[in-house]
Amino acid sequence: MIKVNESSKIFSLNTKNTQYVFGIDNEGLLRHLHWGKKINNEDELDIEILNEVSTNDPVYEITPEEFPVYGGLRYKENCLKVKFADGTRDIVYKYEGYEIDNDKLIIKLKDKYYNLIINLYYKVIEKQDLIERWVYVSNNSNEDIVIEEIYSAQLHIPYENLRFSNTHGHWAAEQQKFTQNVSYGKIYIENRRGISGHNHNPYFILDKNATETSGEVFFGALRLTGNFKGIIEQTAYGETLVQMGLNPYDFELSLKSKESFTTPSIICGYSDCGFERMSHNLHNFTKENILRKGLRPVLYNSWEATEFDVKCDEQIKLAKVAKEIGAELFVVDDGWFGERNGIHNGLGDWYVNEEKFPNGLNQLIEEVKNLGMKFGIWVEPEMVNPLSKLYKDNPDWIYSFDNRERTTSRGQYVLNMTKKEVKEYVYNTLDELLSNYDIDYIKWDANRPISEPGAKNLGDNEKNLWYEHIQAVYDIVKNLKEKHKDVLFEACASGGGRIDYGILGIFDDFWTSDNTDAYDRLFIQHTYSQIYPIKAMRSWVTDCPNFLSQRIIPLRFRYHSAMMGTLGIGSNILKYSKDEIELSKNMIEEYKNIRHIVQDGDFYRLENTSENDYHNFEYVNDDEALLFVFLPQSKVGHRPVRIRLRGLEEDKMYEFKYNGEMIVKSGAYLMNYGLKIHLRGDYQSELIYLKRR
Ligand code: DGJ
Repeated sequence: MIKVNESSKIFSLNTKNTQYVFGIDNEGLLRHLHWGKKINNEDELDIEILNEVSTNDPVYEITPEEFPVYGGLRYKENCLKVKFADGTRDIVYKYEGYEIDNDKLIIKLKDKYYNLIINLYYKVIEKQDLIERWVYVSNNSNEDIVIEEIYSAQLHIPYENLRFSNTHGHWAAEQQKFTQNVSYGKIYIENRRGISGHNHNPYFILDKNATETSGEVFFGALRLTGNFKGIIEQTAYGETLVQMGLNPYDFELSLKSKESFTTPSIICGYSDCGFERMSHNLHNFTKENILRKGLRPVLYNSWEATEFDVKCDEQIKLAKVAKEIGAELFVVDDGWFGERNGIHNGLGDWYVNEEKFPNGLNQLIEEVKNLGMKFGIWVEPEMVNPLSKLYKDNPDWIYSFDNRERTTSRGQYVLNMTKKEVKEYVYNTLDELLSNYDIDYIKWDANRPISEPGAKNLGDNEKNLWYEHIQAVYDIVKNLKEKHKDVLFEACASGGGRIDYGILGIFDDFWTSDNTDAYDRLFIQHTYSQIYPIKAMRSWVTDCPNFLSQRIIPLRFRYHSAMMGTLGIGSNILKYSKDEIELSKNMIEEYKNIRHIVQDGDFYRLENTSENDYHNFEYVNDDEALLFVFLPQSKVGHRPVRIRLRGLEEDKMYEFKYNGEMIVKSGAYLMNYGLKIHLRGDYQSELIYLKRR
């Protein structure tokens, strides 16, 4: 609900449990007043008159502004910096009014002298206690305006000494959580590569000694793929600021007369009961508003089994076994096209390799379809190999600078997706592929960052290519989906380099990481789940020793770990023993019976109450629940552990099977006393299904 007090000029955004309030102060500045638990009557808030603390702490500097701009006596981080045609680099905004459009509040600001319009958008997502913010800037003057910096929002958290969490890592080590204390100074997280990256992720979590179920948490996730920046700053004036938006690194946007720009949005929220509420609210928001409905299929992907050595006959053999064990979708990964026998050739030439498919791709597709499975295929459409025909014919289709070497990475260049003809080529190629073949699933990969970011076609706006590049990708996929409605798209960038709220919804699945080690995955999946929905988390069962960790983990544990997301199998199943086939059949069947709980239920990261390294996760969907327990290695004592469940109904009875025995316990018992689990040995795991009676 949006409430406006016309006389005091106080705006209140009310969600189910939270309130976000700001107002216009005596200086005409948009002042932040409150974000947190409900205060109910926002009129009790007083927009006190702020006086400068000293000449070095002027009013502009100490005012907690909703959208600070570059200009005047402001030295703090700003959300908008522009250069006007006459060289003025200074914005003085005035409040021009507001508009309410259903669940959106639009605050209208305008420069006092220049015809620059700044509209701040606030969308209230009542049910999930979220506020989505973004900004629209329009040049209504007759001359050009150059935007030098633009962020989606600034957020104010009324505390010092908070804890900040995000991810660090690298390829095959995505989603590694770090938490650090915020003190004076600034924390920056960013990406400069054109993909969101494997290290920092475009979101923030700030908490005040929170646990999963207690404490205050402020968070926000930016809906942008690629070059983002986040700044976290504890100020000298008793608060912590967060800014997120387009990375000003190598950025400039020239707005011609009557042109406008809308930033990506940031979805923000507040929880007064820990991280779990934060995750549930975000997950539920995505399930209701962003993600495509329906359960995700169990897929088989041939990458780890065959890599580039794709042969039709062998793929058919794999497809038959994939069907036998229960896969519903067969995906041919890299290596099916052009002269693709390794990383150095093929990208750009999206025709079927005749040596590998002497009777055409349809031979494989028909086999897959006759087996009753869906068919998927890997592509890397933003890239080109120097040896490809596409590059030979169009050497000017990549990002480059004159007189500079074009750097290859993984043997490839990045196509200049901001060029009309390139965008059309990519769209047409994929459209043809989807029109000529019965394809249900596209795994869209992007294996290198952008370098030599030259795009003369963008003229003055060359430096906006980082943003334009990803907009082209979004557009292509949106348009393809309009025409090929049922096709699912998986976002992959060298593993999990494209996990963000910008791409989510346009793409349906995330490839979470090339690290398919089942134990490492528990950590990756744990951190992923903080912000991102389980339904989009692809997890595969692969072979041991794992190519990366060299670890040997029992197949059952590997299945359990992968069953925590949308299940895939990436093993060389042609080498599976009879026992492995049988186990796979059982596990996949079990997954199909419970996947509605995994994909659509509420996810809980349960506590480990033991000295041993237990990893416990729970899913609850209405009257059903699942408990996953993992123990990599039992230690001294090798004693049982009590795992306290959550999200059940205290006064209801739950039935479940453990160690071959049917057990009935109350929700209160399971949540407050806990379920006794006894695992011993290495890489032990359990999956327990509970049904409310
Ligand atoms: C990187 C991806 O993460 C892998 O899953 C695989 O698709 C390879 N690229 C193929 O080149």
